[in-house]
Amino acid sequence: MSKQIVFSGIQPTGGVHIGNYLGALRNWVRLQDEYETIYCVVDLHALTIPQDPAEFERERLEAAKMVIAAGVDPNTSLFYYQSQVPQHTELSWILGTLTQVGSLNRMTQYKDKADQAGANLGLYAYPVLMAADILIHHAHRVPVGDDQIQHLELTRDLAERFNRRFGEEFPVPEGIIPEHGARIMSLQDPTSKMSKSDPNQGSRIQLLDDPDTIRKRIGRAVTDSGTGIEFDWNRKPGISNLLEILSLFTDTQVDKLVAEHNAMQYGEFKHVVAEAVIDGLAPIRRSYSSLEDEEVSRLMYKGALDARTSAEKYQVSVREKVGLTGH
Ligand code: TYM
Repeated sequence: MSKQIVFSGIQPTGGVHIGNYLGALRNWVRLQDEYETIYCVVDLHALTIPQDPAEFERERLEAAKMVIAAGVDPNTSLFYYQSQVPQHTELSWILGTLTQVGSLNRMTQYKDKADQAGANLGLYAYPVLMAADILIHHAHRVPVGDDQIQHLELTRDLAERFNRRFGEEFPVPEGIIPEHGARIMSLQDPTSKMSKSDPNQGSRIQLLDDPDTIRKRIGRAVTDSGTGIEFDWNRKPGISNLLEILSLFTDTQVDKLVAEHNAMQYGEFKHVVAEAVIDGLAPIRRSYSSLEDEEVSRLMYKGALDARTSAEKYQVSVREKVGLTGH
């Protein structure tokens, strides 16, 4: 039996932080053994927020390098830039004709971002392009953090709607949302998620941050009143977030960490967390610095050519189904 297909994407701007890593990227890497994996730097999605072209080009390459440094092997996974595979945007248009504006109005990410970027059409149609990313490869599983669940629901609806209307084409994809790490919180406000778009750099740790920056950011992380290292998202969101991060970087159950560190002062505990994050990110930093820009660009383009071939067969079948046959 052929392997099931996994697809996921990451936006290239604003760097890659430990939330992206623990919620998604780490799983992308692990899934490579079991599934046929397809991963994408979704550069067209990032254009929904105004970008400086030269800076954008640089960030896009950096994001690709980061994904490879984190362990996605371009020889095992299909890995490419979304804009280099035009089938995504064609399918997005077709799916757009099946999308109710009411469902787009309900998207919470649109509401959040429209305040920052102005309500442009790209931002509004963002979830439809995301559905096309997933469906153009007939993906079965989609590893993401929990902020993407709403978008994934729309993708499932669109797959079902297309299949009902035009005949069976798309598998209805399911998320792979990790039990732990699907929502890493901001270091400055542990009641909101760690986010690339937060203007406060102190709210997050980037994968390439040097050890001193990591020590400083965790040292300054907002913690809770009282003392004691306890796991309780309501009463102690700051410490719970740090416990979750420590647990994921050390592959140790939270209960065990609580038992070991319960009597520690917050400052001492933060020191333990910072060192674990530094150790966990060290191999990624090392691997990143060994990657050559030109080689990565070449690999990405090769990935795009292979992805076009793979997407083309489904593109033909979608065209036929909707009545766009012929040469
Ligand atoms: P993006 O680039 O914002 O984030 C990439 C991945 O990181 C996850 N993530 C988090 N996980 C845990 N804690 C956090 N604080 C945190 N912040 C982000 C996200 O859930 C995501 O999995 N719309 C997507 C990109 C996309 C996509 C796709 C994903 C476009 N097309 C198709 C899957 C399939 C996004 O903006 O991710």
